[in-house]
Amino acid sequence: MTIGALALDSDALAACYIVACVLFIFGVRQGTHPTTARRGNWIAALGMAIAVGATLATDVIGNWPLIATGLIIGSALGIVTSMRVQMTAMPQLVALYNGLGGGAVALIAWSEFRHGGEVFGLEAFIPILFSTVIGSVSFWGSNIAFGKLQGLISGAPVKLPGQQVINALLLLGIVAMCIVLAVDNESPSEALYIGVLIASAALGLMVVLPIGGADMPVVISLLNAFTGLAAAGAGFALDNIALIVAGTLVGSSGTILTLEMAHAMNRSVGNILFAGFGGAPVSGSSSEDRPHTSIGAQDAAIMLAYADSVVIVPGYGLAVAQAQHAIKEMADALVRRGVNVRYAIHPVAGRMPGHMNVLLAEADVEYEDLVEMDDINPDLPQTDVAVVVGANDVTNPAAKNDPNSPIAGMPIIEVDEAHQVIVIKRSLSPGFAGIDNDLFYEEKTSMLFADAKAAANDIASEIDEL
Ligand code: TAP
Repeated sequence: MTIGALALDSDALAACYIVACVLFIFGVRQGTHPTTARRGNWIAALGMAIAVGATLATDVIGNWPLIATGLIIGSALGIVTSMRVQMTAMPQLVALYNGLGGGAVALIAWSEFRHGGEVFGLEAFIPILFSTVIGSVSFWGSNIAFGKLQGLISGAPVKLPGQQVINALLLLGIVAMCIVLAVDNESPSEALYIGVLIASAALGLMVVLPIGGADMPVVISLLNAFTGLAAAGAGFALDNIALIVAGTLVGSSGTILTLEMAHAMNRSVGNILFAGFGGAPVSGSSSEDRPHTSIGAQDAAIMLAYADSVVIVPGYGLAVAQAQHAIKEMADALVRRGVNVRYAIHPVAGRMPGHMNVLLAEADVEYEDLVEMDDINPDLPQTDVAVVVGANDVTNPAAKNDPNSPIAGMPIIEVDEAHQVIVIKRSLSPGFAGIDNDLFYEEKTSMLFADAKAAANDIASEIDEL
């Protein structure tokens, strides 16, 4: 039974889709600044609500009980998981949602394939095949990314012998099957179509398994771009403008984000996909033997309280420790004493784009106090104390001093240029790149071995007592 009144070719439906598309674009635009990002999300969500509502109001939509059940289950799962997720688990949630998007597109394509009957024109059939392949790759690849980030499977790169050859053969097989299907587009074989789905699933698994766990944010962003393109493909097959525009927006913004992340690590996307980087330490464990200076919270409080300028460099450990509120309290205690405190933000600090911005915004740190890497670096030689909080690779001077380092050439926050450095972390263990950090052994560096949140709380109370 259909109860909607809008015809698929009606001006009213087209108008709703155009309004939705404008809201998507406006929402994404607002998302480019932390102060407007939240509003941007709401605006884009409103656009999506209009697009979904208008589609449901068309006169071709039937089977309401099934649609209502899907809407209720999907909305409930989305709301509950989003409310409960910890900030540190956000990358895997994005991976999961992205995978669901890819899977949904592949299923839509399959359904179109089955309902196309004998009237497939190539202009609809090619987008269907495209959405099938990319949607399936994205679904399975994203699930592996989710598993790695959630610790359900090892984050270490898994390399099979002849992996690249297997991947190339799979890709060739998929292209060959698609060509056969397209040539026979008047009565395509469903068995062959399912073969495309399965081979694409295998390709998604085989491409993501060899990638190290901490490179997953880049992989997710790339798969996200793929999902967007697959959705745009489905939009062409269904002749749906909203899907074409939304999919293209996701495809292009995901591609830009992927390239930006790769650039910030001074690595190519090819290196991220194929080098099997990260996940296992690459240096020896000689770090414990190297001389270093270790201090307590009271010493740190004295160094900081009598400084004129302090730069705080947050990293992944701040997210793990959920230390953002404690760090803000420590900074407030310093500001009350007249110290100039700023935060240096590295573009790939943490494990997802904007990780540090989001955490510090949650603790009500003023946006003006967050300074991008390129802007803070020239100020570091005039900075009295740089406090590195759970950051490691993004401060490692080997990136600029050692051409043989795995992170050679990666832009870093040059804390080694400050007069003094305090590093808060629990041990001398390496970070994501698995390499020792020479910063820890410099004469100007003091190591404060503790959980970041506990250390920041202790330093804040010590400062208040001075
Ligand atoms: P990392 O180099 O990974 O170092 C984080 C440090 O935090 C660790 O050395 C760890 O040392 C410390 N830590 C963990 N738990 C802690 C706690 N509870 N309290 C205090 N310290 C704690 O982090 P980073 O400097 O932020 O660099 C990010 C890395 O991820 C870069 O290599 C980057 O290329 C990579 N990456 C980032 C992204 C994005 S988009 N952000 C994407 C892909 C890859 P202890 O165990 O000794 O405490």
